[in-house]
Amino acid sequence: MTARIVVLASGNGSNLQALLDAIRSGSLNAEVVGVISDRPTARALARATDAGIPAVALPIEASEARADYDARLAQFTAGFAPDFVVLVGWMRLLTMSFLSHHSQRVVNLHPALPGEFPGTHAIERALQAHQRVGLDRTGVMVHFVPDEGVDDGPVIATVEVPIQPDDTLASLEQRVHAAEHALLVQAIRQLVGSPAV
Ligand code: GAR
Repeated sequence: MTARIVVLASGNGSNLQALLDAIRSGSLNAEVVGVISDRPTARALARATDAGIPAVALPIEASEARADYDARLAQFTAGFAPDFVVLVGWMRLLTMSFLSHHSQRVVNLHPALPGEFPGTHAIERALQAHQRVGLDRTGVMVHFVPDEGVDDGPVIATVEVPIQPDDTLASLEQRVHAAEHALLVQAIRQLVGSPAV
């Protein structure tokens, strides 16, 4: 059976694109059945539309409590009957009011190794650690999201990314993004199984 994936994305969606490209090339046995963004202008939504996938803009309302928004998001997501919900550049913390509805199937991508640089600007903070204390590698991880911990949970896959002495933020970001495009596809393949040959 082909696994059904809902992607939650707040921004550019280059990792969503990596999933779509892998699916189209036949190297990933999955279907992205819906893409939801909290930001109506997110490029991720345009990428979904271009691929013929339902794209839903679901911004939080001015007076809406986080838990209420998350319950609404959980309901929309459930409407797609996903096997997995994959967070790619989803920049809102999910509360249990979302997670309890999608227990065991929420997966997050983060541009750092487990326990390092949770939250935003992880790549920039790794570069600063390189400049301050000589950190010579950062990395990428894909993990399950069991609770409200930030970029934390049972690890599915990781890869290290070297930091070069002459790295700028742009060069390091480029290397990390290339690593995450590959790792995300590999991790989801691990979860859904290899395509039949
Ligand atoms: C990616 O680097 C992803 O790992 C990061 O946001 C970027 C989204 O890029 N996520 C986090 O930092 C989560 N804490 P994309 O929109 O091009 O896929």
